[in-house]
Amino acid sequence: MGGVPPFAVISGGQVQRALAGQEKRITELVETTYRVHGSGDSVNPPSYFLRFPDRPTSRIIALPASIGGQVRVDGLKWISSFPENVAAGIPRASAVLILNDHDTGYPFACLESSIISATRTAASAALAADWLTRGRGRPARVGFFGVGLIARYIHTFLASTGWSFDEVGVFDLSAESAAGFSGYLGRSGTEGRITVHDSAESLIRSSDVVVFATVAGEPHVHELSWFEHNPLVLHVSLRDLSPEIVLGSTNIVDDVEHCLKANTSPHLAEQLTGNRDFLAGTLDDVMSGRITVPADRPLVFSPFGLGVLDLAVGKFVYDEIQRVGELRVVDDFFHDLRRYG
Ligand SMILES: NC(=O)c1ccc[n+]([C@@H]2O[C@H](COP(=O)([O-])OP(=O)(O)OC[C@H]3O[C@@H](n4cnc5c(N)ncnc54)[C@H](O)[C@@H]3O)[C@@H](O)[C@H]2O)c1
Repeated sequence: MGGVPPFAVISGGQVQRALAGQEKRITELVETTYRVHGSGDSVNPPSYFLRFPDRPTSRIIALPASIGGQVRVDGLKWISSFPENVAAGIPRASAVLILNDHDTGYPFACLESSIISATRTAASAALAADWLTRGRGRPARVGFFGVGLIARYIHTFLASTGWSFDEVGVFDLSAESAAGFSGYLGRSGTEGRITVHDSAESLIRSSDVVVFATVAGEPHVHELSWFEHNPLVLHVSLRDLSPEIVLGSTNIVDDVEHCLKANTSPHLAEQLTGNRDFLAGTLDDVMSGRITVPADRPLVFSPFGLGVLDLAVGKFVYDEIQRVGELRVVDDFFHDLRRYG
């Protein structure tokens, strides 16, 4: 054992600089992490949802996890979702990530983690888009349903991992969000035609890939016929689709036990049918060739979001900052270290 490790605090600015331009590497890292998790070399217990009777739309989620493989680190993401923040002009989500040393258990870093969380979510969506369209031909039309911060990160990751689209559709209940996202698309140099749709149906029917990133707490899309062109649906916000749509689609998740919790749409489908027969498997099953997905049905990817991904991306950031000599260590953080004083 190497004694008590120094404790570092890593700011959002440092995180963003460490991740800038690294989209391909991070997507590969997320792929490797899913494979490590799929092989059993991880511990990823259920997330704990802290909710408040006086603030029913808000929550803080704890995601403890341990990842083996090359990364070998334990830790905890602690992430708040306060949707009303957006009206006040600040992001919905805020987070910290604690990394714990494998050998001593000591926490050795606290990182700003809203950027890490959005990054690993977007990398997972881009990875799924790649693997799940391999049997379908490259989609030409993408539609973003709910266009806040997560949608922006997903678009960045798709664009940076080789995707380009002829048409980019946008739908949001908030005209301000739709306008803000369209402005971002314009600035990002998107080549495809940008269309702001005035209905959910029109967006879905016009998209080969539909990205859900709303904050809906219960299903608001009920019409299976809107999906009759068999799109790939990246169901990142997890609670948008009615159980009937889930049951009419091929379903891939990141982790079965995780995803069938907390009233996600797949969880509602399980409650309705009393079984899990509607699940085809995990993304790792697809990547490892254990299952192939049919092209003649809608294909829904529902990623619950795994703590092991936050750890892998967080450790990448830590290593980068250490490599360039910019770790800001808090001296004296662990203080009373002599057993008998
Ligand atoms: N699965 C994962 O791993 C994962 C990780 C991170 C975030 N998320 C989820 O992604 C979602 C988006 O997060 P964000 O930070 O971008 O939120 P945000 O508040 O920045 O944006 C959400 C947008 O959705 C819009 N919206 C809400 N309900 C809608 C509806 N019914 N129809 C159309 N638009 C609607 C809002 O107007 C807003 O513009 C959240 O639900 C969050 O929990 C999932």
